Amino acid sequence: MNIQKQEIRKPMNKNSKSTSVRGFRILAIVLLLPAALVLLAQNVEFPPWPVPDEANEIENPIAPDKISIEEGMAFYNINCKACHGDRGEGDGVIPAASLVSKQALDQTDGALFYKLLEGRGQMPSFRAVSETELWNVINYIRDMAGPKKDIVRKNATIKVVFNETDTLNEITAQVWELQDDSTEIPAGEMKMGFYVKRYFGELKIGGDRTYTNDQGKVTITFPPDLPGENEEGILTVIIRLEDMEFNTLEVSETLQWGTPKETYWTDKRALWKNNDYVPIWLLLSFGGITGGVWLTIIIVMLQLKKIHDINRKKKTA
Ligand code: HEC
Repeated sequence: MNIQKQEIRKPMNKNSKSTSVRGFRILAIVLLLPAALVLLAQNVEFPPWPVPDEANEIENPIAPDKISIEEGMAFYNINCKACHGDRGEGDGVIPAASLVSKQALDQTDGALFYKLLEGRGQMPSFRAVSETELWNVINYIRDMAGPKKDIVRKNATIKVVFNETDTLNEITAQVWELQDDSTEIPAGEMKMGFYVKRYFGELKIGGDRTYTNDQGKVTITFPPDLPGENEEGILTVIIRLEDMEFNTLEVSETLQWGTPKETYWTDKRALWKNNDYVPIWLLLSFGGITGGVWLTIIIVMLQLKKIHDINRKKKTA
């Protein structure tokens, strides 16, 4: 008996050991695989992207001045940063080509312009955008990659006033430059960006020429018919200083300035939604069926009561 038991135990022990080792291996793979994938994804190499000769020769008609670069930066932050990353290194949420590598910068502006128009794979085509904006963003990419002179970026503060009237809503931003002796002076001719947060990216509001005046102030009218994020018309406004000489600075505020997001029963209701959003037909048929069942039960009960009453009458009779 004893010997038999030992014999049985031995292979069992072995077995359980090997399953635990296998368990560890599987666990290790499960844990390491995502890390490996992330590493791989960051080293994505894109195949060469040939550009026709005539595209190579297109000249950039926009001078890379302060205004163009700042416009380009604003455009980049909205349309490119998610993939190409903060500094153009291609390290955004979707792995993209580096825009600041030697290989990328050795191309002509015309070639970059061609690629922006065409798009390839994950890289969208920006054909729908005005050419000026594309040249601006190219100017910004070159500036971003350029040899960094010892730019000491200045600091500022933004004060924002949200003004509601019966007819319209306004946002006034005032920019103050912080001086070395920590006093503040109004900063004129600063480019300010006004945005509303959307599911993907940001929506620019307030037009293109949003520069502060010599009191450091700029006022925009808030668009009256912008859909909010929910039934209460809540939305998030972002006010950002977009001047190359300053550190990035933004203020955001949640306001009830949107139009209530409508819930149409046609597109909002679905089988998998919670009680408030199930399809009408489902509500009706559910109601119909349960109503019918209850009706049947009530009728049966009434009939039973009738029989009961008749019986009682018979008894007393
Ligand atoms: C959805 C992600 C995504 C967005 C948004 C995006 N890109 Fe790209 N971009 C890519 C990917 C991925 C590639 C590599 C495509 C390939 O080579 O197949 C690329 C390639 C490029 C290239 C070519 C690089 C080279 O050397 O060949 C340029 C230039 C470029 N992007 C600029 C921009 C600019 C400017 C914007 C914004 C206006 C932008 N991209 C927006 C994903 C994106």
